[in-house]
Amino acid sequence: MTEDSSAPTPAFPPGFVWGTATSAYQIEGAVGEDGRGPSIWDTFCRVPGAVAGGDTGDVACDHYHRPEEDVRLLTGLGAGAYRFSVAWPRVQPDGRGKPGERGLSFYKRLLDLLRDNGITPFVTLYHWDLPQALEDRGGWRERDTAERFADYAAIVHDALAGWDPYWITFNEPYCSSITGYAEGRHAPGAREGHGALAAAHHLLLAHGLAVPRLRTGGGERVGLTLNMSPAVPASGSPADAAAARRMDLLVNRQFTEPVFGGAYPEDMAETFGAISDLSFREDGDLEIIGAPLDFFGLNYYYRIHAADAPHTEPDPARRTAFDIGVRNVTPEGGVTSGLGWPVEPEGLRNTLTGLAARFPGLPPVYVTENGYGEHGDDLGDQGRIDFLRAHVAATAEAIAAGVDVRGYFCWSLLDNFEWARGYAARFGLVHVDYATQARTPKASYHWYRDQIASSGA
Ligand code: NOJ
Repeated sequence: MTEDSSAPTPAFPPGFVWGTATSAYQIEGAVGEDGRGPSIWDTFCRVPGAVAGGDTGDVACDHYHRPEEDVRLLTGLGAGAYRFSVAWPRVQPDGRGKPGERGLSFYKRLLDLLRDNGITPFVTLYHWDLPQALEDRGGWRERDTAERFADYAAIVHDALAGWDPYWITFNEPYCSSITGYAEGRHAPGAREGHGALAAAHHLLLAHGLAVPRLRTGGGERVGLTLNMSPAVPASGSPADAAAARRMDLLVNRQFTEPVFGGAYPEDMAETFGAISDLSFREDGDLEIIGAPLDFFGLNYYYRIHAADAPHTEPDPARRTAFDIGVRNVTPEGGVTSGLGWPVEPEGLRNTLTGLAARFPGLPPVYVTENGYGEHGDDLGDQGRIDFLRAHVAATAEAIAAGVDVRGYFCWSLLDNFEWARGYAARFGLVHVDYATQARTPKASYHWYRDQIASSGA
């Protein structure tokens, strides 16, 4: 680890933005209010066994009813920015047609509060809550969903552009496609090979189609957030090196190469061999997907230590499409988070320097998520403080190495609905008692406040 508690606070350039991040389904609750339609997560939460404890986002942190209180927590931190997402089913309950004004007015109120407190908004348009009505028509497997998203983006832009937010089209298309359509661990809970690759492509296409719809005023700042997990070989063996390369393709290169490199990686056909039908790709799509961006959002949590793992299904015809023959092994003796994720801040630094080296035209980068998860109600969360300190330092190292990093957002302001893990896993700087909705800042909140105040940015 780069962590050293005696080290001075690293230097950050003037204007460097410090923030926290959340998403609509994870904090808002109020799922049946003001005309909101059902999303795929409302549906998925009701599948027995899909979410730990049978938890749902029905109430979550009740943020929909208490934005004032939550913005006060941001001002208490001294945060200069706040990243939140708009729930598509609040804006278009069935994913198409006229906007629901009542749903949009919640975001206008929130944006007013942020403006009154001098906090810059980073608005994510899609953080996984697809209107169920669109999933019923095939969801992200279908090209039409990309067109629907572009229309939705235009509606939100017209309603909210007056607050001049930074726009993030998508959060982590990897999770929406692979975790949701191939692994079945996230909504909509599908386990398909072809469907998942089509979803990944249509999510990227939707991103590209939305970019010009978000630029109609001139001067808008438009970006995309990808999660990246560097894949390193678990051993020195050539087989593990090859496994790491396959994992890197699945998680990282499948998304970064078309967005910033103008083409899909050449090893896709070979690695995803079981899926030969890529007919969902059409001429001209790559030009749309590669639309120039004003910034790139990076979510970083951990590295993957990839070991070659022979396919469990000997018949290639029956093998699941994403059995790419890789096992993720947690290194022995290393530091891990409360959820068992390896704590390796050099992964953040190397991802940033690696991106800048691979893509000379890379736009300015914001670390749009980075954070530490654990179980239990620990208010003296030293593990989170150590994690954040080390990753803030890793960000500073990347800046010192010449990468144009403009901001850092901690995930998350509040404990919240951690998807398939439900409420048992907590990432907040602020503890939430779900029985009372009481918010209590943790030690990490105070640490982050001091870090922001002393950063000199
Ligand atoms: C990334 C996702 O964007 C966010 O929704 C999630 O809670 C965090 N990772 C932690 O797993």
